[in-house]
Amino acid sequence: METFDLIIANGTVATAADVFTADIGIRGGKIVQIGQQLTGATRTLDATGKYVLPGGIDSHVHLSQPQGGGAVIADDFESGTRSALFGGNTTVLPFCLQEKGVPIRETLKDYHAQAEGECYTDVSFHLIVSDPTEQLIGQDLPALIADGYASLKVFMTYEDLRLSDGEILQTLDTARAHGATVMIHCENEDAIRFLIDKHELAGEIAPRAHAATRPVAVEREATHRAISLAEIADVPIVIVHVSNGQSIEEIARGRARGLKIIGETCPQYLTLTAKDLEGMDWEGAKYVCSPPPRDEAAQAECWTGLENGTFDLFSSDHCPFRYDDDRGKLTPLGRKNFRHIPNGIPGVETRLPILFSQGVMAGRISLERFVALTATNHARTYGLYPQKGTIAIGSDADITIWDPEARRTIRHADLHDACDYTPYEGIEVTGWPETVVLNGAVVIDRGVLTGTKGQGRYCPATPKKTPANT
Ligand code: URP
Ligand code: ZN
Ligand code: ZN
Repeated sequence: METFDLIIANGTVATAADVFTADIGIRGGKIVQIGQQLTGATRTLDATGKYVLPGGIDSHVHLSQPQGGGAVIADDFESGTRSALFGGNTTVLPFCLQEKGVPIRETLKDYHAQAEGECYTDVSFHLIVSDPTEQLIGQDLPALIADGYASLKVFMTYEDLRLSDGEILQTLDTARAHGATVMIHCENEDAIRFLIDKHELAGEIAPRAHAATRPVAVEREATHRAISLAEIADVPIVIVHVSNGQSIEEIARGRARGLKIIGETCPQYLTLTAKDLEGMDWEGAKYVCSPPPRDEAAQAECWTGLENGTFDLFSSDHCPFRYDDDRGKLTPLGRKNFRHIPNGIPGVETRLPILFSQGVMAGRISLERFVALTATNHARTYGLYPQKGTIAIGSDADITIWDPEARRTIRHADLHDACDYTPYEGIEVTGWPETVVLNGAVVIDRGVLTGTKGQGRYCPATPKKTPANT
């Protein structure tokens, strides 16, 4: 019998801490040796001239998530995880949205049933708290957190999802006691409603009005409030999809006060601006997401946050709606008013190439930081480390062999999701995932899918240790 199932030989291995030349020996789905000139494998992949990276972890994707108003998310677990895999990811974290009046365990069961046998990548779940009842806060969440659902998202916007400050505090308190991580969507719903009404009255109802109703102040104020609530509840939080420098300053100020505030930004805030919608009529709906992309100055501020460590996470916020579809961006019932456009854009397959090209190749961030921002920090933040997110003995053999010289122009025609456009159409990138190994199995082999759906597994998360769970 061979010593290894697989050796990845001669590559430049990168972790969040180091870059070095080594061979990686894999057996039984795990990394079992890191050394020089390893031999004795059933199969050897030659990674000469390539980077050998921990598989990407995208901790912010929306798959098969029910939407209000008749809209339907384009990707289910099959198409969403297939697209993620082609983009060099081996684990994704979608959301299970609590339905009001339905026991959350029932809803979770439904998500698991939809994911079962369909996934190309490993999957772990966040829970969205939309109705913090006594039952949920006092009974259900503590039990679910202990069972491996150790991250919760709360919203300060969207009429049907937003929580009051008091409800957020209750959720944070339960998270603190039981070791969950809370992600907060920071936008002030009352201010948004006020601005939407004003724009409607003025007859401004095209998609480009969306950004004007969610200005920086709406996000900055909510970010400040979320950080204050976290300070009061004495618990770390993640501020998700941060779009601008003023919100970044709030995070930095909170950190300077000694709070553990984790910041996340996304490709749309580096590559798109509100100007992209100028001169566009309904096609501007392709770029409608919240918070909206801002301007070039905000892009530069987000880059600074990635470079200086204010951001720990770079996620896609993949939330795809088909454009040419009345269950998508054309809006259910054909209601041609920006307020009815489902919020969200696709991006799970293009996240890594965009950050590699514009970050590493452009000299803005190191390769180690790229790994931290796209894999290691996601595993650490959401209770999957060191099983996931690193190249180390004993870790799952989730590895992406990266060609740093491959030049591509992003075209939706070449992607693998179930959407019908990409907001990144035409962007030129250098660097592309070539081969992907999931739990020791070669699932993308030099650009060709060799894995099968159902190969991806569910990974429960480990809650943080607290007096209540130790
Ligand atoms: O517009 C966005 N970001 N849609 C996805 C849902 C969310 O808020 O993350
Ligand atoms: Zn959000
Ligand atoms: Zn999202």
